[in-house]
Amino acid sequence: MADAGSISLKTTNPKKRAARIADHMSEPIIIETQSHVGIVTLNRPDVLNALSLDLMTKLVDALEAFDDDKNIHVIVISGSEKVWAAGADIKDMANASVIDMYERNQFARWERIKRIRKPIIAAVSGYALGGGCELAMHCDVIIASETAKFGQPEINIGVIPGAGGTQRLTRAIGKFRAMDMVLTGRFITAHEAHRFGLVSRVVPKENFRESALKLAHEMAARAPIALRLAKEAVLKAAETSLSEGLEYERKLFYMLFATEDQKEGMAAFLEKRKADYRGR
Ligand code: CAA
Repeated sequence: MADAGSISLKTTNPKKRAARIADHMSEPIIIETQSHVGIVTLNRPDVLNALSLDLMTKLVDALEAFDDDKNIHVIVISGSEKVWAAGADIKDMANASVIDMYERNQFARWERIKRIRKPIIAAVSGYALGGGCELAMHCDVIIASETAKFGQPEINIGVIPGAGGTQRLTRAIGKFRAMDMVLTGRFITAHEAHRFGLVSRVVPKENFRESALKLAHEMAARAPIALRLAKEAVLKAAETSLSEGLEYERKLFYMLFATEDQKEGMAAFLEKRKADYRGR
C-alpha cells in the first residue's frame, strides 16, 4: 500500500531514488493524510483507473484503516483531473466463467465500503463510469469538476451494473432518468448530474481536488461522533420507512447528549467561542 506521507526518498543514489518513485507510482492507490482528513487517490492512469480486484482490495483496506484511526474524521477518495474511474477492469472479467465470478466474490469488497462509518467525499473529475459511477455513489458527498461525466455503460459490453448501479442510481435520480442511462449507457455531464441530484456540488476542474479537501477539512472540524451518526441517520433514509427513520434519528439525537462534544458545542455557542471537539 503506497503512503505518500511515509514513502522514503532519502537516498543519494539517483537509481535507487528513481526505483522508489517508480514503485510508488505503480501502486494502484496512493494514501495520504492531512491533519484529520484521510485521502486515497486512484492511480492506474494507463487504464483510466479501471477498478481491478487488486485496486479494490487496497482501496477497501485503506478505507477501513482510516475508519479505525481515531485521528481521521473524514475520508476523501480522488481520481486524477482526467479520470475518476472508467469502471471495473474489463480485462479482469472478459474471459471469466460464472464460477470464476462467484468464487471471486468481488462485490464483497463493495459491501465493506458500505460499512465505513466516517463520511467519504468523492472528488470526481473526468469519467466516472460503470463501477466508477457506483464507487462515487458509495461515497456520501460527490464533488464534481465541470468535466466530470457519469454513466453506467455496462449495457454496451453485454452486461448490467453489478455494484449497485441499478439500485443506487434509481434512488438518487429516479426511475425514468436511471432507465435512460442504464438502458442506453449514455453519459451525463456534471451539470446534468447536479440537476438530477447525483452530485452535491460542481466546481472548476482546476481546483476540484482542493474544493473536496476544503470541504473535508470543514467537516472534520465538527464533532466526530456527531458526524458519524449524521451519516448513519441519512443513510437509514434509503433503507426504511419514514416513521421508522424518524424514530431512529430521534434515538441517535438523544444519544449524542451522552457525549462531551455536545456539551462543548452548545457551551461554545453560548459563550460565543469556537468549539474544541475531542471526539468523546
Ligand atoms: N477496464 C480496463 N481497461 C480500461 C477500462 C476498463 N473499464 N476503461 C478503459 N480502459 C483502458 C483501455 O483499454 C485503454 O487501454 P490501451 O491503451 O491498452 O488500449 C486505456 O484504458 C485508454 O482507454 P481508451 O483508449 O478507450 O480511451 P478513450 O479516451 O478513447 O475512451 C472511455 C475513454 C470512453 C472511458 C473508454 O475507455 C471506455 O468506454 N471504457 C470502458 C467503460 C466501461 O464500459 N465501463 C464499465 C465497465 S464494467 C463495470 O464497471 C461493471 C460493474 O458494475 C462493476
